[in-house]
Amino acid sequence: QKADRTREYSENLRLQKKLPHAIVIGVKKGGTRALLEFLRIHPDVGAPGPEVHFFDKRYGNGLEWYRQQMPSTLSDQLTIEKTPSYFVMKDVPRRVYEMSPSVKLIVVVRDPVTRAISDYTQQLSKRPNIQSFEKFVFVDDQSKVINSSWAAIRIGIYAKHLRRWLDYFSLAQIHFVNGERLVTDPAGQLAKVESFLGLRPIIKPSNFYYNETKGFPCLRKSGESIQCLGKTKGRIHPTISEEVVERLRAFFRPFNERFYRMTGRNFGWS
Ligand code: A3P
Repeated sequence: QKADRTREYSENLRLQKKLPHAIVIGVKKGGTRALLEFLRIHPDVGAPGPEVHFFDKRYGNGLEWYRQQMPSTLSDQLTIEKTPSYFVMKDVPRRVYEMSPSVKLIVVVRDPVTRAISDYTQQLSKRPNIQSFEKFVFVDDQSKVINSSWAAIRIGIYAKHLRRWLDYFSLAQIHFVNGERLVTDPAGQLAKVESFLGLRPIIKPSNFYYNETKGFPCLRKSGESIQCLGKTKGRIHPTISEEVVERLRAFFRPFNERFYRMTGRNFGWS
């Protein structure tokens, strides 16, 4: 017992709050909460629960404030935070670079069409009286031109946002998680993240349980207990007409293709 206490004491001494080694910078509605919660089961990872919003909203608080938001970790544990708005904010790549040019970046990407509908579904859940998706998505009723300044659309132009990150970081420093596969094969996507971060391969298919009712994988905790993400993750989307979806697909197609060329990966969004 005494040996246990001595070990615990010396471990406490080694605990420190560290600036992040890796940041999940986006994308909003890509599956960023699922990714972070799944990564947190790894014993060598420490991450704050809430989104920190340092580089976009609280930059004036200074780096020491940022460090204080991190959990205390052992010297060989990695600190990770996620704030999905970072990906689309103009000043953020430079600010992150100034903190650490060698930081690792993770982006969960998802078909920008479903991402836009997911984004709208979130807005609708907060303000049930907002206008319809169709009203937001076109600049006017007649022309049927896609309103690319609507945030739900703008965020999905991944190539444009990635361009700004590549002004500061090499592609090798950025890992893209396939948001669709994160649902169908979470262990496979997590294995790739472990490898990118240099973590021991620990997360296995047996860590997940597919909940039929929710339609998403949940975490299998010790014993029988299952932990799914909350009700705000995996919402039911409103039905959007095929014609509108088709127009959106056509709008995003050239940007998606540019994104595939930039990353050297075809995510298969039609
Ligand atoms: P929907 O609610 O539109 O289905 P974020 O955490 O970045 O806001 O992303 C939310 C999205 O994560 C959800 O959007 C859902 O599709 C996706 N997701 C991926 N894996 C999930 C999981 N295991 N449980 C719940 N949602 C998950």
